[in-house]
Amino acid sequence: MRNLTSRAAGRSSRSRAIKRIATIIAIACAAGAVFWYRDFLKPARLEPSAIAPVKRTSNSEADSADYVGYLGSAACAECHPGEVALASQSKHSKTLMRGSRSPLTRFFVDRTIRDPGDPEVSWRYRLRGDDLEVEREEKGKKRVMRLDYAVGSGRNGVTFVSLSGPAINPEGIKHRFSYMTKDHKIIITPGEPIRADRGAGRGGALSADIVRECFGCHSSRTSAKDRDLLDTATMLPNVDCERCHGPGAAHVAAMRGGLESIAIRFGAGKEGPHAEIKLCGECHRFPSGVFADQFNPDHPLLLQFQPIGLKRSECYKNTKSGFACTTCHDPHSRLSIDISLYDSKCMNCHRSPGGKACEVSPRGGCVNCHMPERTTPDGFVFHDHWIRIHPETEKPTTKSKGSIHAE
Ligand code: HEC
Ligand code: HEC
Ligand code: HEC
Ligand code: HEC
Ligand code: HEC
Ligand code: HEC
Ligand code: HEC
Repeated sequence: MRNLTSRAAGRSSRSRAIKRIATIIAIACAAGAVFWYRDFLKPARLEPSAIAPVKRTSNSEADSADYVGYLGSAACAECHPGEVALASQSKHSKTLMRGSRSPLTRFFVDRTIRDPGDPEVSWRYRLRGDDLEVEREEKGKKRVMRLDYAVGSGRNGVTFVSLSGPAINPEGIKHRFSYMTKDHKIIITPGEPIRADRGAGRGGALSADIVRECFGCHSSRTSAKDRDLLDTATMLPNVDCERCHGPGAAHVAAMRGGLESIAIRFGAGKEGPHAEIKLCGECHRFPSGVFADQFNPDHPLLLQFQPIGLKRSECYKNTKSGFACTTCHDPHSRLSIDISLYDSKCMNCHRSPGGKACEVSPRGGCVNCHMPERTTPDGFVFHDHWIRIHPETEKPTTKSKGSIHAE
């Protein structure tokens, strides 16, 4: 917070830069309709000099001093075995791994790929010790690159990132190929050109700022010193307890000392829906992270950014308290795919008397019609979190009902 006030002067230009980075990063994420909005993004080429340091603005923003207070999730297991056991199964806990450790690495090892954009280039993958390596060969000229990190659990896909340059705030290369879970195939990393220019086809160059942002959303802390630094030696990979609850040392000391103050943020109903959605929105995106013209109901970015959609829903706007991501999702658990569970959440509010019930289908199927699943042209699946009446989910024709609003 401190930093934000003192830098308020440069806010508007920085906020544009932040939005631009957020947009570019949306492309860095394998998920989303990347090819769709590539055209619309053309002018927004990233100039490294245009990147201002991005500040996190949520209430989980920690002062530098807090960075010594991290204990790691193993320290929570003694007293919260339930949350720790659930979290170990979640995708949050598997979203950033050493390249060699990702279960999907096996799809690459010992494989040779002829580059679809340049038939003179081939790529060969191997494990050497604890490293995943790729050898790029072009007309007999070989070059070996280490694929340091696998980003993504593989729900939709995995993208490898190589790091280079200084140990603190390294630059990176987004590897040319990614794994796509649907169809179990290796694809050109979304956002990368198919036709690679000779020499440039090493993958996508990532500035130090982009690498830090990238790891920032896929980790619990980027360094032991400061959130503005990426230091993989002291980084805590994956989205763990302390990413959301903040450093745990003071809490554990308080609990052991029998103190009354719980000294930790976020607990059941503790901070209210806005703060909770903002927490999730730090990574799943918040309205401040995108351009206004992207608020088009059918914009694919909106589909990928659940907090933005949810906040536009009448359900959120008309509920005084208690409607947040955690109304439907246990933040500790892997995503439930039991649709009847979600429908029951809807019916907690939409049941007469008291709530407005659906005339079309009062007892179920709510998600199918009001939060439909959408597959992007790349084959990534998201549910539209802007809960609303979709024109294509027509009322079933019945004799008792009048006209149907079909479009
Ligand atoms: C020595 C035991 C102990 C350890 C270790 C511990 N906690 Fe707790 N924690 C408690 C107790 C006791 C409570 C309060 C009673 C309750 O509601 O469970 C609590 C409550 C919480 C709450 C709810 C806060 C609220 O206001 O409702 C959160 C969140 C939490 N702990 C997170 C953590 C995290 C994260 C860690 C690991 C860094 C951790 N705890 C480690 C004992 C512990
Ligand atoms: C530090 C960044 C970060 C924060 C904060 C965060 N998430 Fe996530 N979340 C991610 C990333 C990254 C993934 C993708 C994980 C993967 O599959 O690699 C993800 C995935 C998910 C998924 C899909 C998981 C699955 O099993 O398929 C859900 C649901 C989710 N997050 C909900 C939440 C909720 C609710 C909150 C707030 C309480 C939240 N997230 C906060 C980064 C974050
Ligand atoms: C602003 C936060 C943020 C940044 C920055 C970010 N991601 Fe993500 N990423 C997410 C969230 C949240 C998800 C899960 C939701 C989704 O799939 O869009 C995700 C999902 C992914 C996935 C799909 C995971 C899966 O298994 O489905 C990949 C791969 C990925 N990101 C790679 C990257 C790479 C590589 C970078 C940086 C070059 C990056 N991301 C930067 C937040 C971020
Ligand atoms: C993605 C963010 C996120 C992560 C990661 C996370 N939590 Fe939580 N946790 C929350 C939120 C948000 C709440 C409040 C939920 C609510 O309002 O219902 C919460 C609630 C809790 C509570 C209070 C539960 C209750 O019912 O009173 C405890 C204890 C807790 N978390 C411990 C942990 C531990 C231990 C870990 C690591 C294994 C962890 N959390 C990881 C977001 C997170
Ligand atoms: C009213 C219930 C509800 C609320 C509130 C809700 N979600 Fe979801 N969410 C769902 C449903 C339903 C799915 C799809 C589950 C499945 O795959 O079967 C889902 C899926 C997801 C996924 C996986 C990708 C996708 O879109 O299918 C992520 C990530 C996610 N939600 C994040 C969030 C975040 C972050 C929030 C808060 C801004 C949130 N959700 C609020 C119902 C909800
Ligand atoms: C916390 C309570 C709550 C939950 C949970 C909830 N809603 Fe709502 N929803 C509302 C309120 C309040 C309104 C405003 C209309 C009203 O007064 O009933 C609303 C409005 C709507 C509308 C009308 C939207 C419009 O644009 O006119 C639809 C459709 C809807 N909800 C569907 C759902 C579905 C489907 C779910 C579950 C996925 C759900 N709601 C979950 C409280 C909730
Ligand atoms: C077959 C698709 C379908 C299903 C299933 C469905 N709805 Fe609807 N819902 C609609 C349509 C279409 C409308 C608009 C009706 C109209 O024009 O009056 C609507 C309207 C609504 C409204 C607005 C009511 C008003 O008077 O403003 C709410 C709230 C709602 N639905 C909630 C739900 C809930 C909760 C469920 C699950 C129990 C559900 N719907 C299941 C299609 C569906």
